[in-house]
Amino acid sequence: MSTTAASDTGATDGRSPEEIRDRYNTIGPITGSLHLDLQGTGEQIVVGIGSRRGVGIRDVRMAMGQALSMAGLRARDVIAIATVDAKQSEEALLELADVLNVPLKFLPADVLAGQQVPNPSPTTERLVGVPSVAEAAVLASDAQLIGNKHTYRGVTVALGRVAQGAPAQQASPGAYAMSTEPGAYDEAYIAEDLGHHGDAEVAPGLVDLAVNVRGAAPQWLQQRLRDAVADLAAYPDPRAATEAIAARHGRPADQVLLTAGGAEAFVLLARALAPHRAVMIHPQFTEPEAALLAAGHEVQRVVLAPPFQIDPGMIPDDADLVMVGNPTNPTSVLHRAETLIALSRPGRVLVVDEAFMDAVPGESQSLAGSPQRPAPNVPGLVVVRSLTKSWGLAGLRIGYLLGAPELLRACAATQSLWAVNSLAVEAALAVTTPEALAEADGFAKRQAEAREHLIGALAEVPDVDVLGPAAAPFVLLRAGGPDPAGVHLRLRQAGWAVRRADTFPGLGSGWLRVAVRDESTSDQFAAALNQAVHPAPQQ
Ligand SMILES: Cc1ncc(COP(=O)(O)O)c(C=O)c1O
Repeated sequence: MSTTAASDTGATDGRSPEEIRDRYNTIGPITGSLHLDLQGTGEQIVVGIGSRRGVGIRDVRMAMGQALSMAGLRARDVIAIATVDAKQSEEALLELADVLNVPLKFLPADVLAGQQVPNPSPTTERLVGVPSVAEAAVLASDAQLIGNKHTYRGVTVALGRVAQGAPAQQASPGAYAMSTEPGAYDEAYIAEDLGHHGDAEVAPGLVDLAVNVRGAAPQWLQQRLRDAVADLAAYPDPRAATEAIAARHGRPADQVLLTAGGAEAFVLLARALAPHRAVMIHPQFTEPEAALLAAGHEVQRVVLAPPFQIDPGMIPDDADLVMVGNPTNPTSVLHRAETLIALSRPGRVLVVDEAFMDAVPGESQSLAGSPQRPAPNVPGLVVVRSLTKSWGLAGLRIGYLLGAPELLRACAATQSLWAVNSLAVEAALAVTTPEALAEADGFAKRQAEAREHLIGALAEVPDVDVLGPAAAPFVLLRAGGPDPAGVHLRLRQAGWAVRRADTFPGLGSGWLRVAVRDESTSDQFAAALNQAVHPAPQQ
């Protein structure tokens, strides 16, 4: 299968992914040729887009990235973007075409109106005179629609497959805005992949092994939140919850800042800091890097190779900001506290993302501190915590930062007013009591047993390597077999949503992240994985 599209910027220099991996095993600048997985699947895809006026590039990329991901396709497969001619001044669409280095095709409304779209929308027809811009733009480009159209924050995306050999870009009427900037593709690729999250993989009818959040908050917590609704007339007051969290970590209250989830904590840090050399240790959760890039900082990556252990010597001496996850998403690796402490230096901010630490029984390697085990005195250490995972509160948005008061004040100064709402504050109070902490520890222990069961079941599947030891509520695996890149899609076709992990820097085709669920689900998944890794030969 050909892997090099016409718009290839030559980023791989003809080297194999293994050669590139070896070369960039240590340090790679984000703007360099780091990407291990720039190949497409060999398909030629036209992306039809309908969008609200003034839409932002991030929403357009997310919508397209999610649609591609759900169809098992890559950004590299895209050969053209098509929309209605009324969108000629939409900068986000121009920018998308530019960074993907593909033509942007503006089609007249009457050409689009003549297409028989499968999913017409009366609202779009009333506003634009076309029942579905996205679907019609694909059909008018002589491409065949794949799956359903996908909508994200006012952007609708339809994907179309161009028959092999058909010159789709010339086939239809309409003007093209051509990209002139070679090499811009890399940036698009990075941004799009940084924005991919497990929730984009979930769809009706699929068993969700993609999202790492506990199914639902416990009943008592749900009831407490319902009761707190009565007090919503008052503005949020984070003081009591801040005190409670400080006490739980054996720290003074000025070392705690409540945030709207760990995700907001990264944004605040990116706004408050002005790093000269920011280093991300990958593979890891991509939002910290996305936040730094969005704040205008350059990022340097240190990409670990399996088994993803850290050697402090890999970090450039002059790095003044280092970000690392523990336990790490998606590898599930739990680094030793001493290893992380060894990353600190005078003048360096060391951010340890402990979003999943409450899933580790006893939080053994945590640097957050507790009354029994005070936080180590590491200047520049900042710990990010989340309360959304183990408590099933992703929709509520609650987490916090632990660190030096002056840094937290700088973060707080960039936070929007009342960013942490009253229900989130109530949840933080509720899950910080000794009873709740004991419950969380019990949950972590049961989850660890379930994880061992999952790992055992996966170990039985030929041509699948599970990365171990795992410490988080998910495991990372690498599927082999005749077509590793197709395993994700075949699992979806069989009813299973897992998180494709090839979008994480440093990982490539066949890597998948699988959430820990109950034993019977894990057994059924292992059987489905076996089928997906060893598909029956096509007749
Ligand atoms: C490693 C890691 N850190 C932080 C977060 C942010 O979580 P939240 O914003 O829900 O607290 C996530 C979410 O997926 C994550 O995977």
